[in-house]
Amino acid sequence: MKYYNVQNGPQNVSAIIMGCMRMPALNADEAAKVIETAADNGINYYDHATCYGMGEAEERFGEALAKTSLKREDIFIQSKCGIYPDRQEFNWEKDDILKSVDGILSRLKTDYLDALLLHRPDLLFEPEEVAEAFDKLEASGKVRNFGVSNLGPMQLELLKKCVKQPLVFNQLQLSLDQTQLIDQELYVNNLTTERSTDRDNGLLSYCRLNDITIQAWSPLQIGMFGGCFIDHPDYKELNDCLAELGEKYNVSKTAIAIAWILRHPAHIQVISGTMNPVHMKEFCDSTKVELTHNEWYKLYLASGKFLP
Ligand SMILES: NC(=O)c1ccc[n+]([C@@H]2O[C@H](COP(=O)([O-])OP(=O)(O)OC[C@H]3O[C@@H](n4cnc5c(N)ncnc54)[C@H](OP(=O)(O)O)[C@@H]3O)[C@@H](O)[C@H]2O)c1
Repeated sequence: MKYYNVQNGPQNVSAIIMGCMRMPALNADEAAKVIETAADNGINYYDHATCYGMGEAEERFGEALAKTSLKREDIFIQSKCGIYPDRQEFNWEKDDILKSVDGILSRLKTDYLDALLLHRPDLLFEPEEVAEAFDKLEASGKVRNFGVSNLGPMQLELLKKCVKQPLVFNQLQLSLDQTQLIDQELYVNNLTTERSTDRDNGLLSYCRLNDITIQAWSPLQIGMFGGCFIDHPDYKELNDCLAELGEKYNVSKTAIAIAWILRHPAHIQVISGTMNPVHMKEFCDSTKVELTHNEWYKLYLASGKFLP
């Protein structure tokens, strides 16, 4: 496993995060086994959100963690708030954030979060209110680090105008299929391809410039709900390239797909979503691989992109 020291944030965090979005499908014993498997493979960072199973993921994790040999102080637990599927809204109002954190802590059976992220932009957000909520959460010791998810540079700047805690994480979609963070940097000012469209104001470079650690979500998925591209018949060229490099490095295709994200110099953390111990090990094997400069480009091109 590789570990990062996050600038102004937590130290010695694993490059691979175990994402718990799919945990509601497991019972507590199964969940304990996956948590232990993650730890056995060097993972010390776990990602949640209040909306995963409407709180069920956090609840199951809290129950399951007690069945493992892991100590709370040896791991990092992060959750996200602000998405309310039942209310059909995103909400960053102060009282809502504070209430959400109390719910998260009680479901996870812990008295602090290592990090709290605001999950998706509340279109009505007031930075002053977020700042007040973060001050209270920091002062009470309930939250140790703060960040966001799916946020663009100007929204981050607006938040930073009032929030005094460093915003150290931005969780964003990135995979060999979903490369929009990277594409626009390649096709700058180019009218011949849709990939040149700057959808997020140079977010990748903004995060690097501002020491914001990107956490890549759904790193193996096609689109948002399209399933996994590993072994998918529509991704033959990519799978052939993953297999060839897998053979060279003696790891699975999954490990190579994740090594591709880790090879980027932005020191990205990658969030694994599997609940299968075999897949989890394959995913973590990615940290043993250092792709060459040329192999990184080869995979990018095999995923259907082209150089201008
Ligand atoms: N911030 C956000 O907006 C946001 C959005 C989505 C997700 N997330 C976070 O990102 C995490 C990861 O998302 P994700 O679950 O979509 O990620 P993923 O790792 O890309 O996908 C995992 C899914 O792919 C399946 N899969 C099939 N073949 C696989 C293989 N060879 N290796 C590994 N998995 C394989 C897994 O099934 P098996 O379990 O059977 O292996 C699982 O259903 C979530 O848990 C959550 O923490 C954040």
